[in-house]
Amino acid sequence: MQEIINYIKENKQNYIEELKEFLRIPSISNLSENKKDVARCAVFVADNLRKIGLSRVEIFKTEGHPIVYGEWLGAPGKPTVLIYGHYDVQPVDPIELWNSPPFEPTIKNGKIFARGATDDKGQVFMHFKSAEAFFKKEESLPVNIKFIIEGEEEIGSENLTVFLKNNTDLLKCDAVLISDSSLYDKGIPTLTYGLRGLAYFEVEMTGPNRDLHSGSFGGSVANPINKMAQLISHLHDKNGKVTIPGFYDDVVKLKKKERENFKELKFSDKKLAKDLGVLELEGEKGFSTLERLWARPTLDCNGIIGGFTGKGAKTVIPSKVTAKISMRLVPNQDPNKIAKLFERHLKKLAPKSVKIKITNLHGAFPSMTAVDNPANIAVATAMSKAFGKKTVFMREGGSIPIVTEFSKKLKAPVVLMGLGLNSENLHSPNEHFDLNHFELGIMSSAYFMSEFSNLK
Ligand code: BES
Ligand code: MN
Ligand code: MN
Repeated sequence: MQEIINYIKENKQNYIEELKEFLRIPSISNLSENKKDVARCAVFVADNLRKIGLSRVEIFKTEGHPIVYGEWLGAPGKPTVLIYGHYDVQPVDPIELWNSPPFEPTIKNGKIFARGATDDKGQVFMHFKSAEAFFKKEESLPVNIKFIIEGEEEIGSENLTVFLKNNTDLLKCDAVLISDSSLYDKGIPTLTYGLRGLAYFEVEMTGPNRDLHSGSFGGSVANPINKMAQLISHLHDKNGKVTIPGFYDDVVKLKKKERENFKELKFSDKKLAKDLGVLELEGEKGFSTLERLWARPTLDCNGIIGGFTGKGAKTVIPSKVTAKISMRLVPNQDPNKIAKLFERHLKKLAPKSVKIKITNLHGAFPSMTAVDNPANIAVATAMSKAFGKKTVFMREGGSIPIVTEFSKKLKAPVVLMGLGLNSENLHSPNEHFDLNHFELGIMSSAYFMSEFSNLK
């Protein structure tokens, strides 16, 4: 392995230059005006997979953005690992808060700044380069490898779900490896064994059939924004618990051992409060911050659109308001069941004086892979070797929609080898990726292939 590791170290600069090219493509999946860029990005991914030495690479068209598939199956008798990631990125707004243009990768203090740097192009690229290192030094890999890199993760992975259903044989594997999450902290090798799920809604309330003068009509008719604000405020009680009946019914209680493991991570509430610019943290009573983030479900209003928002004052009662409301879910909550509970509760809460329309935008199941699963042990060992430190175990508050689909359809464990940091501004201005972690990630990926090859 030492030769591979040395080769990776020697080539760090080349890898960074190539990554820059990847980051220059504005593959924003959510914006129709970027559709061509997304397609161009799929071509970049396919070309790179060919270049590193895979024997078969294909771009699959879907009803939305393309899926890139690549494979090298030259290690008969050895296990097969399926590496998943996404080449699509989030929009860049508010653009004025970026210190350098989002699609002109810029290096500062050992970090590369660009949209998609940590989520997920930088992390996907680690696996391309570890495979390339093996091909260059040994002309083969210690395992069979398949890549599935999609362009719709940030919009819910709908077409990959269909693709997976129709191509389970093609994607057959012994484990799915994903780098699309975070380290516990800078320089700490981390195994993430659980993700939260998601249920996301748009809630529209309509009052009068047009905007009204608030003097001539104020007091006579319901104001939908007032009603929406009331409704949202009723969704939590004074202890920070979600009030939807049945919401917590399927939540798996934390085991004592897990609680203790969380405690051992010595999370600092103070440090987080300081970083976020708040005087104190807040959340569900009776739980620590890490428990709230990783093992408890939450509900948040993500945005409200409606009424007069221009400069100055306009005396108006708006006709309509829209709120985006989402919930993070934990094992064993089911997003479909939660959707029903949510809709029923909101319809009951909304007064007769407004019409309410609820649209389910998308959902994701929560997921968990046993810490002692051999594939997880291979990740933990690989990261320990790359970092030269003991790996810590954690869960994660974010969601990756396709994870549960993988484990259901492929009947293989899904393991997470995240090299990002939650402080790297994913989904916000000045997204970046620590280049030291990028290099350690390439090494971790290489060690994983070697560890995993001994499993069968
Ligand atoms: N990579 C993230 C998920 C993530 C974030 C994992 C932070 C670990 C730490 C992923 O690209 C993402 O943003 N997922 C979305 C879900 C999707 C349906 C929009 C999320 O979690 O909001
Ligand atoms: Mn991601
Ligand atoms: Mn994301």
